[in-house]
Amino acid sequence: MRTTTSLDAATLEKLISAAVAAPSQHNTQPWRYRLDPDTTTVEVRAAPERGLRHTDPVARGLHVSVGAALFNLRVAATHFGWHPVVRLLPRPAEPGLLATVRLAGPRTAGRLHRPDLYDAVWRRHSSRFPFTGPPVPARVLAEIAEAATAEGALLTFPGPTEVSRIMRLTAEAEHHSAADPARSAETRDWVREGAPDGLPGAALGPYDAMGRLPVRDFAGIHSASRPRSAAFERRPVIGVLATAHDTRADWLRAGQGLQHALLVATAHHVRTSLFSQAVEWPDLRWALRDPRTGRRHVQMLIRFGHGPDGPATPRRPARDVLDVDEAQDVRAGGRPRAVTGRGMAAPCSAQGSARRYRSERPAP
Ligand SMILES: Cc1cc2nc3c(=O)[nH]c(=O)nc-3n(C[C@H](O)[C@H](O)[C@H](O)COP(=O)(O)O)c2cc1C
Repeated sequence: MRTTTSLDAATLEKLISAAVAAPSQHNTQPWRYRLDPDTTTVEVRAAPERGLRHTDPVARGLHVSVGAALFNLRVAATHFGWHPVVRLLPRPAEPGLLATVRLAGPRTAGRLHRPDLYDAVWRRHSSRFPFTGPPVPARVLAEIAEAATAEGALLTFPGPTEVSRIMRLTAEAEHHSAADPARSAETRDWVREGAPDGLPGAALGPYDAMGRLPVRDFAGIHSASRPRSAAFERRPVIGVLATAHDTRADWLRAGQGLQHALLVATAHHVRTSLFSQAVEWPDLRWALRDPRTGRRHVQMLIRFGHGPDGPATPRRPARDVLDVDEAQDVRAGGRPRAVTGRGMAAPCSAQGSARRYRSERPAP
């Protein structure tokens, strides 16, 4: 771990790459980043052109995805020795600016999260395969739930009867989506090979032969890119992630809670996959609320278990998602500038004209 607060081009690239490693709906990666060098603040913006117009018309899933990326950015900032100061929706006049993360530092004592989450950022992948290993211990599930709580969300683990009920609602959502040509086409469009976004066929996983776990049918039921069916776990462990309210800030909190929970699970070698189908239909989302406790707004269903790791899905490189003002171009003839405290420490010597951050170094 680093103890200085200087920010050079390579470290900035790692911060952004960590953010980009987050899960996003259909792996759309609906985000952009910009560094404000005067305040050493990373601005996190929505990329609405990457939104799912039919599946996610109010951009709730987009906000949850960006919230997950925001949590990864915080983990990476902490790893490199900063204290990340986050503001959600900081400028009402600029609704596309979803968050700012000021790199205040150096980091003082006090734990914001487990120290091993930076490593988990790179190891976490969705696993849509049957879980076959031993049950996840109750103490691990409790720690995972605490992680969501730390971000202002609530993660509960309902019993088998309630799990069956919410999985039936998920199956119903799958039927609704399959009968909606616009949604089906939009989803299929994000199944891609060799692209820097979307889902390759290898990530999709099989159908549950018993029909209890309705894994999302990304490619369409007759697609050849998906293995046919397999026996999934008899008693799936499903966490219900919810928030007290349902504003854009709550969606960003849900995303941070989701990612904190997923990374703690990964640190324990627990695999995860997500089910948001029922959350995408307002009537089914309403029905997802636990009838006994249900005043909260359900944001995601998360499956936990021991089993095969999911394959890595592609990501856009940091340079493609980081906007840099002309005066900030850090290529500088191959000499990255350092940012220390309130400004650029070393002046740029080259006359770069590209507006994008560029670096010669690959992402970690
Ligand atoms: C808001 C949101 C909704 C998602 N919904 C689903 C889903 O319904 N089914 C599914 O299999 N994965 C779902 N995912 C997981 C994404 O497909 C996955 O994160 C993305 O393809 C990148 O893959 P990775 O998680 O392996 O990095 C969702 C992710 C987010 C952030």
